[in-house]
Amino acid sequence: MTRIAIIGAGPSGMAQMRAFQSEASNGHAIPEIVCFEKCSDWGGLWNYTWRTGLDEHGEPVHCSMYRYLWTNGPKEGLEFADYTFDEHFGKGIGSYPPRAVLWDYMKGRVEKAHVRPWVRFSTPVRQVVFDEPTGLFTVTAHDLENDRIYTETFDYVVVASGHFSTPHSPNFEGMDGFNGRILHAHDFRDAVEFQGKDVLLVGSSYSAEDIGSQCWKYGAKSVTTCYRSKPMGFKWPTNWEEKPLLTRLENRTVHFADGSSKEIDAIILCTGYIHHLPFLPDDLRLKTRNRMWPLGLYKGVVWEHNPKLFYLGMQDQWFTFNMFDAQAWFVRDVIQGRIALPSQAEMTADSLHLRALEEAIGDDADSIRFQGEYVKDLIARTDYPSFDIDGVVDIFLEWKKHKKEGIMTFRDHAYRSVMTGRMSPLHHTPWKDALDDSLEAYMSDAPLERVANDSRFNPDEDFAPLVRRAMSGRI
Ligand SMILES: Cc1cc2nc3c(=O)[nH]c(=O)nc-3n(C[C@H](O)[C@H](O)[C@H](O)COP(=O)(O)OP(=O)(O)OC[C@H]3O[C@@H](n4cnc5c(N)ncnc54)[C@H](O)[C@@H]3O)c2cc1C
Ligand SMILES: NC(=O)c1ccc[n+]([C@@H]2O[C@H](COP(=O)([O-])OP(=O)(O)OC[C@H]3O[C@@H](n4cnc5c(N)ncnc54)[C@H](OP(=O)(O)O)[C@@H]3O)[C@@H](O)[C@H]2O)c1
Repeated sequence: MTRIAIIGAGPSGMAQMRAFQSEASNGHAIPEIVCFEKCSDWGGLWNYTWRTGLDEHGEPVHCSMYRYLWTNGPKEGLEFADYTFDEHFGKGIGSYPPRAVLWDYMKGRVEKAHVRPWVRFSTPVRQVVFDEPTGLFTVTAHDLENDRIYTETFDYVVVASGHFSTPHSPNFEGMDGFNGRILHAHDFRDAVEFQGKDVLLVGSSYSAEDIGSQCWKYGAKSVTTCYRSKPMGFKWPTNWEEKPLLTRLENRTVHFADGSSKEIDAIILCTGYIHHLPFLPDDLRLKTRNRMWPLGLYKGVVWEHNPKLFYLGMQDQWFTFNMFDAQAWFVRDVIQGRIALPSQAEMTADSLHLRALEEAIGDDADSIRFQGEYVKDLIARTDYPSFDIDGVVDIFLEWKKHKKEGIMTFRDHAYRSVMTGRMSPLHHTPWKDALDDSLEAYMSDAPLERVANDSRFNPDEDFAPLVRRAMSGRI
């Protein structure tokens, strides 16, 4: 029987399992599927842990998410076409749910599909080798619970191990002697730690914007962000300033490229992640930085040098969950023999053409449209339910506009689902006042009562003016 190994049970790996289960539910025979997942639960980055560094088995912690993280783009941009938010929650919910709510949503679809038995949890893949004569992959995996390393052979391998987990951490002169705390965004867990502190974030992308916003929301004394290429340029609150890149550090003093300096308590490197695929040999390994069109992948998924190997979700991402679906359905149909692949030379030519288009991208709006066209192209080739992708592009453009209008208020907007045609309700509490990120608080009609009763929040502490207002009934 044909066997497929999926590496990773995050949103991409879950999409691949759902794609095959959907095929089976339509009465078609499917191969045997084994999904190797190094964590003890599924959901990838959305499966939160307090741990940083190494986990209980000595494995690098995968999670880069943190407490109080809310989705940074409207949920209407990532909604599954085959499983809507309304179906999962049974009612409309706001457009920017916290992590726990999205985790619940993505789990709902695969639980309904009954694919959990396909996953071998706590089992990292250590090595993948391709044997030319047999045309089979040998996969070496480590069953951490039983501390057993074993190998099995597969006809196809789908790499869905994510690329926002291994930190890219540049060094700056004087870091060794800095008297405060230095960490990478990957190890950031709770903004409350930085209450009353002067915090510096290095970088000018989503982690810098969002972790800075968390620190501001939970009571940092000041937030400073510094950029290498260009400033984010939002209308920041008064205790937030944006500076060019730091040049060096001296004790607690940070010097910037414009000659200014500032006393800083903590530095958070929001300098991105590297594609880290240590289990793959050179001839199978994707080598790229974070960009819209990595080379070597036909249609963004098929490894051109060996089309029995596939990658999901390796691009930089505007579209996420429904793009992973589009990719997974395409990969499924290649494996099922429904989609014929062209020659390697043709695949490479196609890929180079898309790289040229990527290099001509002018601004974020172009970049969103580029990815929208890509998703459209994939979906047209499979039976994934088609949806209004231009409508999703419009949602993203509207989101960009709302961010420009107010970086601390953009999450207070709501959007219309292109899947159901229904407008999402406004969330009960403005984002900056919503301190509790639990699913219960988000779904509840009495969120403030819950915050007021949460022993973590001490009304006498400086960082809790909002809680005080909540407790005295003024919100
Ligand atoms: C801080 C942060 C916030 C984000 N917020 C949003 C957001 O608000 N909205 C949005 O749409 N996207 C967001 N993203 C983007 C995110 O990349 C996607 O939402 C999504 O998680 C990608 O899914 P994935 O399955 O490709 O990768 P991942 O979620 O990274 O999952 C990969 C899985 O593979 C497993 N794995 C890795 N190596 C191995 C191995 N060797 N063997 C076995 N298993 C392995 C991991 O344990 C993990 O479960 C965010 C990313 C970060 C870093
Ligand atoms: N839900 C949420 O709220 C949330 C929060 C955080 C992250 N995310 C997601 O996480 C993913 C990763 O985002 P990210 O911001 O971590 O990574 P990223 O988008 O890849 O950005 C990396 C940043 O680091 C900077 N950088 C890299 N090397 C540097 C150096 N040597 N010196 C100074 N700056 C350097 C880059 O600057 P240049 O521009 O100069 O290259 C860029 O600003 C994204 O998909 C994002 O959407 C979501």
